[in-house]
Amino acid sequence: MVIRSAQFVCSNSDVKSCPAPKLPEYAFIGRSNVGKSSLINMLCNTRKLAKTSSTPGKTQLINHFLINNSWYLVDLPGYGFARVGQSLREKFSKIIADYLNARTNMMCLFVLIDARLEPQTLDMDFMRSAALSQIPFAMIFTKADKLKPGALMRNIEYYKKTMLQEWAELPQMFISSAENGMGKDDILNFIEEVNTR
Ligand code: GTP
Ligand code: MG
Repeated sequence: MVIRSAQFVCSNSDVKSCPAPKLPEYAFIGRSNVGKSSLINMLCNTRKLAKTSSTPGKTQLINHFLINNSWYLVDLPGYGFARVGQSLREKFSKIIADYLNARTNMMCLFVLIDARLEPQTLDMDFMRSAALSQIPFAMIFTKADKLKPGALMRNIEYYKKTMLQEWAELPQMFISSAENGMGKDDILNFIEEVNTR
């Protein structure tokens, strides 16, 4: 799929103020700083659509971006970064939970995982609760450019092995780099396939 147009629509702290749930949408979640906003920009061929920062806690609201006038990408606050501070973390958790409960048009939640890290309890807990709530999700391993190919594959194999101790089947998985565009076609083709289901 080619992205012909990408425009910012609105930012909301209250999910009730988000656009009417009439178009399919795809949201990005994961720890603060994992690269959610950067990945949205990479998919849209820009550096300016979603605001990014090396300081965790940059995205604080639900941000809707209209793509090709027909579906949305949604940038969410991150979860669980100690440096973000407890009150902000709690605020983000509420925004995320309300969003996930309310958006009947959310076709797939992309759960972003830093490809450099071993499986983290926080992410495993999040995915478990998403599955229990029957939220459709896929995983994206981010910042792949920061690893050599061998180390990247080893980390992902280890992640799969760890998940398979608990999960009967694995979710769809992608590998991405906002630096070099890795994963872009796979993720956009997946979205196109879901959009046309
Ligand atoms: P919050 O909004 O704070 O939750 O963070 P986020 O998940 O949206 O992360 P963001 O996209 O703002 O990126 C965080 C930092 O990681 C920035 O300094 C980015 O430049 C960097 N970054 C993100 N993706 C990549 C990547 O694929 N490769 C590399 N090398 N750096 C990345
Ligand atoms: Mg962000």
